[in-house]
Amino acid sequence: MKIKWGVIGCGGIADRRTLPGMMLADNVELVAVMDANMDFALKAKEKYGAKYAFDKAEDLLALDEIDAVYIASPVAFHTEQTVMAAKAKKHILLEKPMTLTSEKSKELADVCAENGVKIGVGLMMRFHTYHQMMKKLIEDGKLGEIVSMRAQLTCWYPDMPGNWRQAKATSGGGSLMDMGIHCVDLLQYISGLKAKEVASFSGTQIFDYEVEDGGSIIMRMENGATAYVDANFNIPDDAAVCKLEIYGTEGSIFAEGTIGQVEGGNVRVTICGDQGAYNAAQERQATNSYIMEAELGNMYTKEVAGFSDAIINDTVPPVTALDAVNVQQIIEAAYESNETKKFVEIK
Ligand SMILES: NC(=O)c1ccc[n+]([C@@H]2O[C@H](COP(=O)([O-])OP(=O)(O)OC[C@H]3O[C@@H](n4cnc5c(N)ncnc54)[C@H](O)[C@@H]3O)[C@@H](O)[C@H]2O)c1
Repeated sequence: MKIKWGVIGCGGIADRRTLPGMMLADNVELVAVMDANMDFALKAKEKYGAKYAFDKAEDLLALDEIDAVYIASPVAFHTEQTVMAAKAKKHILLEKPMTLTSEKSKELADVCAENGVKIGVGLMMRFHTYHQMMKKLIEDGKLGEIVSMRAQLTCWYPDMPGNWRQAKATSGGGSLMDMGIHCVDLLQYISGLKAKEVASFSGTQIFDYEVEDGGSIIMRMENGATAYVDANFNIPDDAAVCKLEIYGTEGSIFAEGTIGQVEGGNVRVTICGDQGAYNAAQERQATNSYIMEAELGNMYTKEVAGFSDAIINDTVPPVTALDAVNVQQIIEAAYESNETKKFVEIK
């Protein structure tokens, strides 16, 4: 069985990543595309072989033959379009952040439940094969108890007057809301630990726009471990390797380049086992390490295929709206901490 899809907002990430990924999923058929800019819609129709192109979401949503929509418009349009899609009884895969505030995002989850449609969120980095393997190592206890973690995502995002991401009212936040959100989600997902308390610094250091161009978050996890997230719009793309580090009492995972839009990167795993007594020699040996190896795929294909499977089998989507609301609450807590100079609890 194939789920019939419509895409709302098909000229940005949808064209760069999600539609190419969607084309590789075997339980998916693309039916229609829509963009506020009709040229983008027509281009996507041609490029991906859709039957219809529209410049109004209501026209796409009026099609009976569509089962599900992927919404990848700018964040400020997510609420209106998600509510319209839910009322049209379409299942929804919604890009992150779900909408401008966690409170409104929770309301979207409720609207979908009331209308009997599924909603999933585009935190697709969970689908990276190495991230799944890291999660399994931790679940199997190979790293012992997790004590410390770090995740980093950066890009170069200079001033672009009128850009929706650079104004709070249309983005909900800057580098932390846009990219830190993936890092927070990954650390919680891979470790299986929830953040309970947050401290953060962020600000606009290099550029002139309203939202932060860089920031860091420290989270105290439910088991007492600390986790550090850094997300910057002011570091050249070639100058950062988007590190992911996880340390436990019996080993570590050290990754470069796995956080990003392409399934790739390098991961070194070190498994030391029970450490017993203090070793005054403090010798560090690499003999317990190996490089993770696996066949890599396309995170966007797995994201769309996974959500389609959840519709076909009537199961819970792989990335739920409530997971995404929780991560957005953590980002908002970080903004509050930066402003009040206090730690903020996550309830
Ligand atoms: N998961 C990821 O890998 C990833 C990466 C980038 C962006 N995103 C998310 O995707 C969403 C879009 O980001 P982007 O980078 O593609 O933005 P973008 O500005 O590059 O592209 C947005 C597209 O939506 C169109 N558009 C504008 N107003 C619209 C409307 N009212 N209805 C429909 N289409 C409209 C634009 O013409 C454009 O084609 C955001 O939520 C963003 O956070 C996710």
